[in-house]
Amino acid sequence: MPSSLQALDGASGGALTRLYKSGDFAGKKDESALVYGTGAAARLLLLGLGKREELGRGPIRRAAAAAAKKARTLGVPSAAFHLSAEGRGSLGPEEVGQVVGEGLAFGAWQYAEMKQPPEEKKPLLERIEVLAPDQTAAVEAGHRIGVAIAAGQTLTRGLQVLPGNVCTPAYLATAAQELGRRYGFAVTVLDRGAILKEGMGALIAVAQGSLEEPRFIALEYKGGSGAPVVLIGKGVTFDTGGISIKPAQSMEEMKYDMSGAAAVLGTFEALGQLKPKLNVVGLVPATENMPSGNAIKPGDVVKSHFGKTIEIINTDAEGRLILADALSWARRYEPACVLDAATLTGAMVVALGHVVTGVMGTDDALVEEVRRAGERSGERVWPLPLWDEFRDLMKSDIADVKNSGGRPAGSITAGWFLREFVKGFPWAHLDIAGTAYTEREDATMVKGPTGVMVRLFCEFVLGRAGK
Ligand code: BES
Ligand code: MN
Ligand code: ZN
Repeated sequence: MPSSLQALDGASGGALTRLYKSGDFAGKKDESALVYGTGAAARLLLLGLGKREELGRGPIRRAAAAAAKKARTLGVPSAAFHLSAEGRGSLGPEEVGQVVGEGLAFGAWQYAEMKQPPEEKKPLLERIEVLAPDQTAAVEAGHRIGVAIAAGQTLTRGLQVLPGNVCTPAYLATAAQELGRRYGFAVTVLDRGAILKEGMGALIAVAQGSLEEPRFIALEYKGGSGAPVVLIGKGVTFDTGGISIKPAQSMEEMKYDMSGAAAVLGTFEALGQLKPKLNVVGLVPATENMPSGNAIKPGDVVKSHFGKTIEIINTDAEGRLILADALSWARRYEPACVLDAATLTGAMVVALGHVVTGVMGTDDALVEEVRRAGERSGERVWPLPLWDEFRDLMKSDIADVKNSGGRPAGSITAGWFLREFVKGFPWAHLDIAGTAYTEREDATMVKGPTGVMVRLFCEFVLGRAGK
């Protein structure tokens, strides 16, 4: 038994001693034990952190998430969370406070709003107190950051989970406006007419098959001086594929095709709470992708906001079309850098699966900065090469560029397509097709939305603001 647990062991009438003696608990990763003591500490949940050498932000965040998930499913209305001194490793108190805050909220998340309440109601988990008897102020300072980031991630997951008939482009716009009102930043929403007038022909092309109107949403957080960081999120509120229609199997998952947009909005929630000293712009092109008599067809050529013409080979490659116009629009802010997050390609899932997000970009230093933010946030990313050889696959016979290069290197050619619309700023693209949601429950989360990129975006902008 770790020596720092002695007091707790006493308060539980020796329950921890008995547990460790039994050999039933060794503290391995994801291992847990629920023990019922006899003293003041009547019910204790122990979570393993894994190997001592591998301690750090990740395992602690994960254990906190698993703890909260367990507390929620047990129906515990309030709990206290304690990280043993041994479990901290070399992590500073601020970092501990932050990742515990992030993890607890992550694990506690669920979505039940669309179901009838169960007949046997369990109490809802309302409160988890973090016990940090030493270095309280530092832990609290970090915890404040973690809780704000978690609030952002919760907002994101709450938007992601909504079905396409609820979370429409107009719904996303309203969510952005609400954030703007709550925290006092400017939000601009362009409707179909305004989008047309601005010349965003690629966004209009995707939206033209849908009865649901598109929106182009811009949020401006002003916390400092200097060029802003621009965050762009793909906001396809449902992706049927359009005329190049998707198979029915798992098509319902395409309600998650606005996960990039949701991550941008969640980041603004955290910005509103934390008020870091820098400027951030969020851009969300929002639309459905539907087949209809008005829909774009394979072979159609459209003119983008940037000016380049695009031959539409596959109407299911719609994300890159709407992002192209957003990237072009971003030039007006003279950005310090632009990051975009998008559930862009199925090929991403084939390449890297569900554990890591692919990153591509024009600037090695920026990609490295994003990679580091990924490590710190536990939302890891891995680079794919945007080499010139891949560009050839996107050449069109009739237009400046085509929107699909076929199956080979599908994530990279999508990246190259975006790159055709990047001018005047360093840029990195995050393909979250594999990481935005999961079909598998695990120790830390239910099936469904992950809120991925909120923690990475926050870590990135806080890093730039010098915290
Ligand atoms: N939204 C999809 C990508 C996607 C697939 C996200 C699976 C999450 C899970 C995107 O719009 C798409 O359909 N991409 C096509 C591109 C192709 C037609 C070039 C794809 O990946 O098949
Ligand atoms: Mn698609
Ligand atoms: Zn899509």
